[in-house]
Amino acid sequence: MSGGRSEPRLELAVGDITAEAVDAIVNAANETLLGGGGVDGAIHRAAGPELLEHCRTLGGCPTGQAKITPAFRLTARWVIHTVGPIWHGGEHGEAELLASCYRESLARADEVGARSVVFPAISTGVYGYPMASATQIAVDAVRAAPTQVTLVRFVCFNQEALDAYRNILGTE
Ligand code: AR6
Repeated sequence: MSGGRSEPRLELAVGDITAEAVDAIVNAANETLLGGGGVDGAIHRAAGPELLEHCRTLGGCPTGQAKITPAFRLTARWVIHTVGPIWHGGEHGEAELLASCYRESLARADEVGARSVVFPAISTGVYGYPMASATQIAVDAVRAAPTQVTLVRFVCFNQEALDAYRNILGTE
């Protein structure tokens, strides 16, 4: 067969990422990979203590990179832990680092053969990235990524995220 690829189908979902039944869910983690609040806290609670045990063996993860683990008690098969940039005003490489999170996460998905992946709005919570630009970067980076993933779902935890993604994707 040819090595050609098509862009993944993009979907929006509303609610808690831990309820998503896809091959891989992406965690908005921090560089320690040892848990935290927001999505990270929810994923660790739902996956069970085995996830933290496993994460302890990984030696952390630099901002803009991603590491993959089993999903333990979650419905998904894998958790991809990526570390978004902390927003410092936009002139500290934040956009490139955020785009890298999406690319690197899809690269980890490809390595294990995951075909459906769900992302939270990385960096838009505790890390303070403005929603409109963060979601634009998310969509652009996923569309441009060389990946075998066929379905990418963006989970919107609040109305602001939903409005931002709808604006970009032109859906109602
Ligand atoms: N499902 C889906 N989206 C969620 C959920 C959930 N259960 N909970 C929050 N969101 P954040 P960050 C949304 O703060 O900004 C952690 O402590 C939320 O509304 O989880 O990348 C880590 O350990 C927001 O839009 O991640 C790091 O220290 C988005 O998910 C730090 O926070 C991201 O918010 C990472 O900060």
